[in-house]
Amino acid sequence: ILAAASLAAQADYPDKPITLVVPFSAGGPTDKVARDLAEAMRKTLRTGLIIENVGGAGGTLGATKVAKAQPDGYTLLMHHIGMATSPSLYRNMQYRTLDDFEYLGLMIEVPMTLIGRPSLPASNYAELQRWLAANKGKINLANAGLGSASHLCGLLLQSTLKLDMTTVPYKGTGPAMTDLIAGQVDLLCDQTTNTSGQIEAGRVRAYGVTTSKRLSGSALDKLATLQELGLRGFDVSIWYGLYAPRGTPKPALDKLNSALKAALRDPEFRKREEALGAVIVSDARSNPAEHKRFVDSEINKWAPIIKAAGQYAD
Ligand code: MLT
Repeated sequence: ILAAASLAAQADYPDKPITLVVPFSAGGPTDKVARDLAEAMRKTLRTGLIIENVGGAGGTLGATKVAKAQPDGYTLLMHHIGMATSPSLYRNMQYRTLDDFEYLGLMIEVPMTLIGRPSLPASNYAELQRWLAANKGKINLANAGLGSASHLCGLLLQSTLKLDMTTVPYKGTGPAMTDLIAGQVDLLCDQTTNTSGQIEAGRVRAYGVTTSKRLSGSALDKLATLQELGLRGFDVSIWYGLYAPRGTPKPALDKLNSALKAALRDPEFRKREEALGAVIVSDARSNPAEHKRFVDSEINKWAPIIKAAGQYAD
């Protein structure tokens, strides 16, 4: 009887709102994409997706919460490259990245921009280099904690420049951006989903983009790449995926994956994200098997890079 009951329950899944955990504070790039995704997935799932911001420890607190949640299809995680960098940054993580989640598919890739407080006396990257050299030991770089995308970019920046900065961690780059605009910190490397509006409005200084190619068709297309500006090998964009706790029933996983694929095809969702410099992944990459294979390869890709740059970690 139990099996039949649970099968019946899965048949009309979802029949109540789903919680989508965002492992960073409200108002940041992850939160922004999650709210757009929830709106698009709602059209297929015909139930509410309620965002729950669980910030802290570079996204690992939110990931831990979902790893330990009931595997009933009503708690999901949307997380980014931090899923692949955190295993190299935390000695005692509370979850096993490849074993404690069901992989629902990759969804989007977001470039990053290196930005500065509006009062920083450097209006381009050449002037920033001079300012950095003149202010060694006094530079404050904001991020969202070990395992955040902003932390990874900061790590690469410090190790490429061979320059230690004081890092100021926040629970997300929403609050970090507020402090940068107020001049409380000097620099931030953050995703275009959070920075393009601020750059366009002239509220922050913009020095370069972290992707190997310039961004086209967005407000950022006149920004040079950090590679062009001499930061060799700087090529990072922030990929996002959707996850459920290990053991979530297959019928629920299938419904969630098809709702995700429908959202990635949704014209409204695509228009919003592409206007902010983001790229929607191809249909094949939003397959669960490809998602898990990719995360595994990213863990192996970033481990030696983080280790080599470790002396510049927080
Ligand atoms: C980060 O990794 O820097 C986060 O994406 C910041 C955020 O989303 O608030």
